[in-house]
Amino acid sequence: MPRKPKTVAARPFRYNPDGQLLCDAVPLETLAERYGTPLYCYSASQVRERLALFRKHFKRHDHLICYAVKANSNLSLLRMLAREGAGFDIVSGGELERVRRADKRAVARTVFSGAGKTAGEMDLALRAGILLFNVESEQELELLAERAAKLRKKARVALRVNPEVFAETHPYISTGLREHKFGIDIGRAREVYARAAKDKWLSPEGVSVHIGSQIRSAAPFGAALARVRALVEELAEDGIRIRSVDAGGGLGIDYTAQLGAEEFDAAKEVTEYAAALTEGMRGMQVRLLLEPGRFLVAQAGVLVARVLYRKRNGAKEFLITDAGMNDLIRPALYGAHHEIVPVERATADDSQNAIMDVVGPVCETGDFFARDRAMPDVHPGALIALLDTGAYAMSISSNYNSRSRAAEVLVDGKRVRLARRRETIEDQLRFEE
Ligand code: LLP
Repeated sequence: MPRKPKTVAARPFRYNPDGQLLCDAVPLETLAERYGTPLYCYSASQVRERLALFRKHFKRHDHLICYAVKANSNLSLLRMLAREGAGFDIVSGGELERVRRADKRAVARTVFSGAGKTAGEMDLALRAGILLFNVESEQELELLAERAAKLRKKARVALRVNPEVFAETHPYISTGLREHKFGIDIGRAREVYARAAKDKWLSPEGVSVHIGSQIRSAAPFGAALARVRALVEELAEDGIRIRSVDAGGGLGIDYTAQLGAEEFDAAKEVTEYAAALTEGMRGMQVRLLLEPGRFLVAQAGVLVARVLYRKRNGAKEFLITDAGMNDLIRPALYGAHHEIVPVERATADDSQNAIMDVVGPVCETGDFFARDRAMPDVHPGALIALLDTGAYAMSISSNYNSRSRAAEVLVDGKRVRLARRRETIEDQLRFEE
């Protein structure tokens, strides 16, 4: 019998025979008791596995994986990724500082994206010696040339081009079209490269694209790279040699898969993605840069919350938890779906599903995690876990309603590290008179 190829579990969370939900080998209940709730828990081993999966599929190409820091910028996580040799994709001076503190040497593996870089941020990145600036407009290129000349530090640049490829995703996170604020029209790119090539302080070395996030089909990635390939060939005719192509991030996950279901096969997703990119790149002698965020970290995380109340208003039933939209805004902002499961099966009756809204304590009707969801019969005091919250969750959290931000723990097998202590009201008040 042929051996079944090894698949990577979609999520590092499973129930033990006692009905306790584990993160790697550690019961989430233990973590909630020790660190309180709301609590973000991440599995380090899962993140490493995902990184390895990417590496394996691109091993025939000269490549560098630049983790998109914005997805989850916790320092312990960045340090772990840096140790694994990952590069980073940053979008602010703040993220640059995080990378530098995680590992000074990782700065040389860092690309700087973003449509609104300031002169101050450019100076920081030039001095730090980052790998590449992903330049998003002609004005930005002018400013970068000025800063580089002033500091007498040559800036390696890639232009982020808009490939005019539409990728099916939420409109707030789709970026590959002319009408979006990102990138430079691919039709104008040749001219802009010629301008950059003339400048003593600019070294045009790369082309980058990023067509959007949470994209569930591989084809648009291949289509975008095929457009880039045509541009790289034109630039070669102009005497500009492109050394790296950055395919951006964007590979999505299945937020609706039930816990333990085999429907989402991460290995298969990466195989298809890699095949589309490889096909799009055919014949190009360049280094491939990748900027995955969500795919590496989203499924490695959960948000653990405690149920405060269960109440009925008219025909509707509500589960009110101690986590709110300030902790996890994705449902409110994108109508995003997150699976919600009990942390102790023993306290929940799976056979007794009730249709409920799962909401937080914030004074907004938009403060919900699920609407009209069939939930197991959980009661006040029980713990629940919101799945797939390792990306764009803690990193977009806020202090709205003067709520202190959650703590974060990084679990690695049996080991647990408090990666961010819970904020206090004193932390919040420190900057105010
Ligand atoms: N590179 C660039 C230039 C980006 O703008 C992004 C994400 C990434 C890479 C990483 O994309 P990923 O692999 O994570 O899809 N808050 C939204 C997602 C915003 C994505 C912003 N850019 C959400 O929660 O779905």
